[in-house]
Amino acid sequence: MKLEKVTAVCFSPTGNAKKITNAIAQTIASREGIPFHEDDITLPYLRRGLREYSAGELVVFGTPVYAGRIPNKILPAVQTLFEGNGALAIPVVTFGNRSFDNGLIEVRNELEQHGFHTIAGAAFVSEHVMSAKLAGGRPNEGDFQAICQFALDAAAKIDALEEGPHDGMAQVPAPVAVKGEDPIPGYYRPLQADGSPANFLKAKPKTTDACTDCGICARACPMGSISPEDFRTVTGVCIKCQACVKLCPVGAKYFDDPVMLSHIRMLEDHYSRPAENEVFL
Ligand SMILES: Cc1cc2nc3c(=O)[nH]c(=O)nc-3n(C[C@H](O)[C@H](O)[C@H](O)COP(=O)(O)O)c2cc1C
Repeated sequence: MKLEKVTAVCFSPTGNAKKITNAIAQTIASREGIPFHEDDITLPYLRRGLREYSAGELVVFGTPVYAGRIPNKILPAVQTLFEGNGALAIPVVTFGNRSFDNGLIEVRNELEQHGFHTIAGAAFVSEHVMSAKLAGGRPNEGDFQAICQFALDAAAKIDALEEGPHDGMAQVPAPVAVKGEDPIPGYYRPLQADGSPANFLKAKPKTTDACTDCGICARACPMGSISPEDFRTVTGVCIKCQACVKLCPVGAKYFDDPVMLSHIRMLEDHYSRPAENEVFL
């Protein structure tokens, strides 16, 4: 089957999901000699307006896994902004060395429910935003080789689809089989270093005196939760994505919630081995 266009859609507060999603989409677009488009939905003002696709298009849809699933505050956008109308799709998740649990199957299911035919899927390891001891430096060169190989294999699978009347194909492909539980159970429940439950939902970033009031943090917050009048004040929900921490040019943002720090220690104690990328074709 001949593709006409590839779009990389991503939610990516600290950029790893975006790097990986774009690399897959660009590899496929250049192999096929077709246009590549980017649709980054990380910031609130970008999560507006229905995106409609059609048969002959491919969407590579990437998001980090939070608590084993699609970040819960982003799920409504995933469920309302995209209509495939017979387009092909590749669900992609990134995860920080613990596990992608049911994140990939959840993206696959949402895409299938919204008119896409999922043709391939993948979960790639990336440095955990909360600790460089978890997959520090990933995706690395070896990961990018795997990412490009996955893209080429997915493109070959699309090429091999016979042309016909069903959304441009002789037969509609079955949803790609990926790892995960279906129906999808609840979210992963974080633990503290001593094994007790870790509830740090209310944790928010703090600000040191190094802050220069540049406002980068407020503009980078995917929830629009840092006050534009006072960059030290968090007015709305915090999803702990670390965008403000990572992007602050003077390192003025930090978290000191003891339960959250204990959870990070637990992750470092149990999940520092290099996790494997997993592809599904
Ligand atoms: C709130 C939160 C929850 C997370 N939950 C998981 C998880 O369940 N499993 C895992 O391996 N990594 C988890 N991570 C790590 C992210 O998936 C990883 O750092 C991701 O690739 C970051 O993507 P980004 O750079 O596009 O923001 C979590 C990160 C955050 C901020």
